[in-house]
Amino acid sequence: MRIRIPLTLSKPRNLKIVITTLALCTLLLIGYNYTHLLLPLRFNGGETSVKGIQSPLPQDAPTTKLYNDQRKGNDVLLTLVRNSEINQLVGTIESFEESFNSKYHYDWWFMNDEDFTQEFQERVKEVVSGRTRFIKIPKELWSYPDYIDREKADASRQAYKKARIMYGESESYRFMCRFNSGMFYRLPELKDIEYYWRIEPSTRFNCEITYDVFQYMRNHNKLYAFNMALQEDVRTIPTLWNSTMEFLRENPQAVDKDNLAGFVSDDGGNSYNLCHFWSNFEIANMQFFRSPVYESYFEFLDRKGGFFYERWGDAPVHTLAVSLMLPADQIHFVANTGYFHKPNQDCPPNEELRDALHCQCSPRSDFTWHKYSCVHKFFHLQKMVRPDTLEHISMIYPTIYDTIMNAKD
Ligand SMILES: *[C@@H]1O[C@H](CO)[C@@H](O)[C@H](O)[C@H]1NC(C)=O
Repeated sequence: MRIRIPLTLSKPRNLKIVITTLALCTLLLIGYNYTHLLLPLRFNGGETSVKGIQSPLPQDAPTTKLYNDQRKGNDVLLTLVRNSEINQLVGTIESFEESFNSKYHYDWWFMNDEDFTQEFQERVKEVVSGRTRFIKIPKELWSYPDYIDREKADASRQAYKKARIMYGESESYRFMCRFNSGMFYRLPELKDIEYYWRIEPSTRFNCEITYDVFQYMRNHNKLYAFNMALQEDVRTIPTLWNSTMEFLRENPQAVDKDNLAGFVSDDGGNSYNLCHFWSNFEIANMQFFRSPVYESYFEFLDRKGGFFYERWGDAPVHTLAVSLMLPADQIHFVANTGYFHKPNQDCPPNEELRDALHCQCSPRSDFTWHKYSCVHKFFHLQKMVRPDTLEHISMIYPTIYDTIMNAKD
């Protein structure tokens, strides 16, 4: 039934009705816009099997094959690093080789906005068990888009500095966040790469990773994997949520019907709860970032200027995209790696599990299951048990459980 609005109003009572009707219509419209974001409850376990369609995204088959081993895809370890960080990097490589890569020998590629020195390259090659590649980031992927008002950006950095917000005054930090949000996958050298595992200097992996995470993701149709999740400093992203909602209102088809919206909003889409996958640890299929949906989302955000007028991080940007635009069951939690990135440590509180994974960390320092961690939410929303004991792991990740049993001596 159509609601007819009288054009002339004789009595104030009518005016009230009209206003009430208008208000109701507006509320209905707003409600409609957010119904896309309502979280579907999920009752199944963690290991979803491969569906008929391997991926909803266009798959450009790589033209060159990186490995002779036919079981392997074109997957690489990927690190953005400066020459001056060589010592921190070597420590990280040694830790990750011991935990994971000494079993699988994946290639490790390095990116820098300056030329890598000979010394840097030699020291890195000594410790990586796979091959290495050193990539220089071209200026256009590490700079301002031409529509950015540089004076406004300068003023913003000064204001952030005054407010003592971490990296608030830094220009290069902003280039980095923009690069990690929407630029790295455009590097011509990465054209044929499928999955990447992002690893940062100064991090550690204090438990053994007993399975090939790249292969696991491929076999279980996962497109994004994370390890830690926490809350962002809202002062760095005052308008990111509203900008995202604006994008989604203009592009409602971008929202996946099986999304994990509850991970990022506790009030049905009104506001951001600030939870984000801590993207200094990140494994993902490049195809997600290269999809028209993500590309248009990034372009939209880039136009808003928040990477420079505020201090938008790639972690909340990736998280909002992944949580809203992917089916929840394509997101994988990489449990029990003993990952450390200052100031947070993952360390399995369960002793049997720690022993099985040969962890070298203190359970008292564990952040993953701390009350301020957002990881609980991920499992709670999907009605999945947490992978925090061997028994629980056998329930939700049976294939991973088998690899732990094999690694246990
Ligand atoms: C975001 O949008 C909401 C609802 O429209 C509004 O109340 C809020 O002030 C906006 N926040 C910012 C920082 O603009």
